[in-house]
Amino acid sequence: MEPIESFKSQVAENIRGLAADKDIQSLSRIWCRETNRNNYTYNFSWLGRPIIQYPQDIVAMQELIWQVKPDLIIETGIAHGGSLILSASMLALLDYCEAVEAHTTLDPKAARRRVLGIDIDIRAHNKAAIEAHPMSHRIDMIQGSSVVPEIVEQVREIAKDYKRIMVCLDSNHTHDHVLAELEAYAPLTGMDSYCVVFDTIIEDMLDDMFPNRPWGKGNNPKTAVWEYLRRLQEEGRSATDGAPLHFEVDKMVENKLLISVAPDGYLKRISS
Ligand SMILES: C[S@@+](CC[C@H](N)C(=O)[O-])C[C@H]1O[C@@H](n2cnc3c(N)ncnc32)[C@H](O)[C@@H]1O
Repeated sequence: MEPIESFKSQVAENIRGLAADKDIQSLSRIWCRETNRNNYTYNFSWLGRPIIQYPQDIVAMQELIWQVKPDLIIETGIAHGGSLILSASMLALLDYCEAVEAHTTLDPKAARRRVLGIDIDIRAHNKAAIEAHPMSHRIDMIQGSSVVPEIVEQVREIAKDYKRIMVCLDSNHTHDHVLAELEAYAPLTGMDSYCVVFDTIIEDMLDDMFPNRPWGKGNNPKTAVWEYLRRLQEEGRSATDGAPLHFEVDKMVENKLLISVAPDGYLKRISS
C-alpha cells in the first residue's frame, strides 16, 4: 500500500480500536460530565470571539468543512458569535486555497461562500462585535425564533441561491424545538454534506444536571435526532433539491473525537 493510503488505514484502525474500547468510552463520558459542572465549553474563543464548543468538535467542524466545501453554512444559535466566525474563517480559507490552485487573485470582499446565523436574541454587544470582526462581510444574521414560519421561509429563500449547504443546529435544546429545526432545515443539507446537531450529549448526562433548563434526559437534541431519523425511514421525504432525503449518523466522527457534545449528532446526508 502506498504511504498516504497506509497512514489513512492506520488512522481508521485506531478509530475502530477506540470505538471498541468500553473503558475509554466511559472515561470520556465521565470527563464530559465532570467538566460540564464548570461550564468547560465556555472557555474558548475563535479569532477573538467566544465559542461555546469543545475544542474537539471545533476540529471536527474544520475537517467536515474542508471535506464538504460548502458554499453556505446555516447555523441556529449565535450567542457570542464564535461558531459563526469559525465557519466564516473556514469558508475564507476554502476560497483562499481555491484561488491559489487556480492561480487567480483573491478578492476577499467578493467571496460567494457565506454563513447565515439565526438567533432569537442577538444581544447588542455581541452583534456589534460580530459586525466589527474582519470576517463579518461573509456573515448574515437573522433575529427571531428558528422555528417560526417567517424565519424558516426567509432562510429557505436565501438558501435557494446555494448548492452545497451545511446545517448546524445549536439553539434551544428541547426535543420539540430541535425536531422542528430538523424538519425545517435538514432538507436543505447538500448531498454528502452534514446536518450537525449539537448538545445531543444531554441524553448521556445525569438526570439532575440541567435543573434550570427546559431540556434534560429524554427531552433533548439526541431524542429529536432519533425521532427525525425514524420519521425519515418510515415516511420517506425529499430534500429541497428534489432527491430523497436520507441521513446516517457518522459514527467515525464521535469515535475519533471521544470528547464531543454531539454523539449521534453528526448527520451525513447520503443518497440511499
Ligand atoms: C449554545 S448557544 C449557541 C452557541 C454558538 N453556536 C457557539 O458555538 O458559540 C444557544 C443560542 O441559542 C439561542 N436560542 C435560544 N432559543 C432560540 C430559538 N428559539 N431560536 C433561535 N435561537 C435560539 C440563544 O439565544 C443562544 O444565543
